[in-house]
This record gives sequence, structure tokens and C-alpha cells, in this order.
Amino acid sequence: MKDTAISVLKILEEASGPVSGERIAEQLGITRSAVWKQIRELRKLGYRISSSRAEGYRLEAATSRLLPYEIQKKLRTQVIGRQIRHFDRTASTSWIGKRLAGETDPEQLHGLVIIAEEQTGGVGRLGRAWVSPAGGIWATIVLKPRIPLDNLFMITMAGAIAIARAIRKEYNISALIKWPNDIFIGDKKVAGLLLELAAEADTVHYALLGIGIDANISLADLPSDLQKTITSLKDEVGHEVDRVALLARILREFELRYRQLEDGEYDSIIREWKTLSLTLEHRVVIKTINKTFEGEAIDIDRHGALIIRKDNGEVERVISGDCFQ
Ligand code: BTN
Repeated sequence: MKDTAISVLKILEEASGPVSGERIAEQLGITRSAVWKQIRELRKLGYRISSSRAEGYRLEAATSRLLPYEIQKKLRTQVIGRQIRHFDRTASTSWIGKRLAGETDPEQLHGLVIIAEEQTGGVGRLGRAWVSPAGGIWATIVLKPRIPLDNLFMITMAGAIAIARAIRKEYNISALIKWPNDIFIGDKKVAGLLLELAAEADTVHYALLGIGIDANISLADLPSDLQKTITSLKDEVGHEVDRVALLARILREFELRYRQLEDGEYDSIIREWKTLSLTLEHRVVIKTINKTFEGEAIDIDRHGALIIRKDNGEVERVISGDCFQ
């Protein structure tokens, strides 16, 4: 959003009633037709602005898009989300993250959040397609981790805790974490996380934490096989949710947990993850690349691996794979 549009918007936001085009023009030192142009731009971005010849312009409702200006108004963080890139439509925010990290020193991108209203080539875990229609929250957080390699998976844990906590705080719904990286409400998935690392030997160049949340999407827009296993916040809450408020809350919750990781407080993260876990103390079927087995999920370790006690008493550690429960 251009600076002049933001200035016009701020005047409308601060006014208790309608403001004439003349007054806005005077205040900003621009012409009345320039004001009109900005109003048109703001309307295109989804702001509802009424106008009357007699009274002028009035802001009736803010946009529901995840615009940086709107998110930053609500953001209570120091680093995460201080830089935001917003796209109406892109293949994948993860690709944008990779491109940017290839062009710019990742150190400078630390905390950048890339957001898309819609993704045409969203990617999920294990290279699966991630359906990302308008109405969801599709975002990638770019990080330059200062965390030992062994503990990097805990970034996903911090992200999962952040999403579950934010959903609980915003809507009083008991969202839980299903290992390794899904957020569930009841027996349905509402969000997923994807951690991608650019690393070699003992150096991590950057990490991308992808977040996909089925916020205001209509299940009817999803392929029929997904409709049985997925829910949306809109369906759970009973009305469209304020995506801006939710994302701002997630970023804050994430920053708090990420700071704990940077400070080496791994046990706090593990403890909190456990209190939100849907998987622990449940019978699960684990599918890894080379085998499938059953057992009880008894613990999670410092590397984010799930510990399974099989029926024969053997204990197995699972680093990656699918978990069915
Ligand atoms: C999963 O498989 O459960 C993880 C899904 C992660 C999807 C998010 S949406 C934003 C980011 N961009 C992508 O293409 N994928 C991640």
C-alpha cells in the first residue's frame, strides 16, 4: 500500500465521522482528485468507504485482507513480522522465501513474514500439494536460527504451540497438536506447519517456517477426499474469523517461544508441547519410508522425535513419518 493511501486511511480512521475530500487534500497537501484516486485504491484493497457529496468520505469497515498495515497495527512483537511481504496470489510463500533468501543476506530477513491471500502451488509435508484457496492464512516466516542443529525441529514445535495457543485464546476452542506438525480441532485438521532448512555441515543458512491455516475457507471448495478430514475455523466458530487478529496473535505467541529456544529453554517448549499434545498417550500407527508399525506414543524428545512403545514392549524413536491415530 502506498504511503499516500496510508495517510488518507489514517485520517479516515482517526475521524469520528465523515471527512470532506477538501479537508483531506488540504491536510496532505495534495489535490482533491489525488484524494479520490487514493480512495479508489483503498476500496480495491477491500476497505469499505462510503462517500456523500454533502459530507465526504467515511470509513465503514477495514479490509479483511492480511495487509501489512493492518497486521502491524495489532502486532505485539519485536522481530517476527516487523517486515511483511503480502501477495494477493502466488504459487507458494515458501518459494518466495527461498528466492528472497537467495538474493538477500538471510540475517537481514530474520523475522520476515511472507503472506499470500491465495496460493496456486502450495506445498505440504513430504512434497504433497497443499490446497490454499482465498480465505485461509498462508504464511512463511523467514528465520536465521541461532539454535543448535540438533534442536532445529523444535522450531516446528514452537510454531505448533503458537497456533494452538492463539486459536484457544481467540476463540476458546481446544485446539491440539498432532505429531509431527498438525493442529487439530476434535478429530479434524485445521492447520499444518512445514519447516524447511537450508543447511550444510554445521551451518544453517536459513529456515522457513510455513504455516497453513484453514481459517475462512469453505469446505465445499476443497477436494472431496479432504472434506472428511479437515475443518475450518469459520465452521468451528460459526462465523468468519478476524484473520488479521489471529495472525498477529500467532506471531506474538511464536516470538515468545522462539526466544525460549534461542535462550536454550528447550524443556519449557517440550513441556508446553506435551500439555497441548493430541498424540501422547494414544495408540498410533506410524508409517515411515520403510516400515509401518503400531504402538503407544509415550513421549517426545529434545529433537522432536516421537517415542513409541510397541506391543512387544520394544521402544522405537521416530524422527519423521506419518502418524495415524
Ligand atoms: C502440512 O503438510 O501439513 C504443512 C502445510 C504447510 C502449508 C504452508 S501454507 C504457507 C507455506 N507455503 C506453502 O506452500 N506451504 C506452507
